[in-house]
Amino acid sequence: MSKEADLEYPVINPVADRWSPYGFSEEPVSTDDLRSLLEAARWAPSSYNEQPWRYIVATRSNTQQYDAVLSCLAEPNQQWAKAAAVLMLGVISRQFEKNGKPNKAAEHDLGLASANLSAEATQRGLFVHQMIGIDPEKAREVFAIPEGYEALTGLAVGHRANPDTLPDALRERDEAPRQRKAQSEFVFGGKFGEAL
Ligand SMILES: Cc1cc2nc3c(=O)[nH]c(=O)nc-3n(C[C@H](O)[C@H](O)[C@H](O)COP(=O)(O)O)c2cc1C
Repeated sequence: MSKEADLEYPVINPVADRWSPYGFSEEPVSTDDLRSLLEAARWAPSSYNEQPWRYIVATRSNTQQYDAVLSCLAEPNQQWAKAAAVLMLGVISRQFEKNGKPNKAAEHDLGLASANLSAEATQRGLFVHQMIGIDPEKAREVFAIPEGYEALTGLAVGHRANPDTLPDALRERDEAPRQRKAQSEFVFGGKFGEAL
């Protein structure tokens, strides 16, 4: 059930094999796997080692917490994410802890942490689908997120569903080929726009 990346050059498996499914099965994610995913996030690099990321985590077995995270996702994302075994919110701290100055890298560094988390998931045969479609103010209210912090992303984590069990709309999205710009469109060697 792999969905191959059309590689221009070889890359390691956790990069090549990662993709964002719409069809999740309800099969649980073990606590060991979940903790290792978060450990991978923990060891991401960050500007001044600020580690501005926070994750609010809900497993399906904790219905109240799970429904609370689900309620913070945009409605179109709720439609498919509600099948995932684990839902998370990615939260950033916008100021440096030691001097209160703005951390321009906060969003970037949450992205790095979530990339690490996704690579670890892929290596373990799990899938992650990140979402910008969330309601940050609702998340603030539901989870008492303090001033200076902001929910930025949602993450659905789990096992992939058998495509045959999915409604057509989701199956088609999961069966569509993965597409990327060519390196020549984003890797420059001279002036901006000049391919390396
Ligand atoms: C920060 C971020 C936010 C995203 N937000 C959404 C979203 O709200 N809803 C959605 O369906 N997919 C979302 N995606 C998934 C992207 O659409 C997906 O990563 C992209 O199409 C590339 O596909 P692939 O991850 O399968 O390679 C998001 C991905 C990232 C990294």
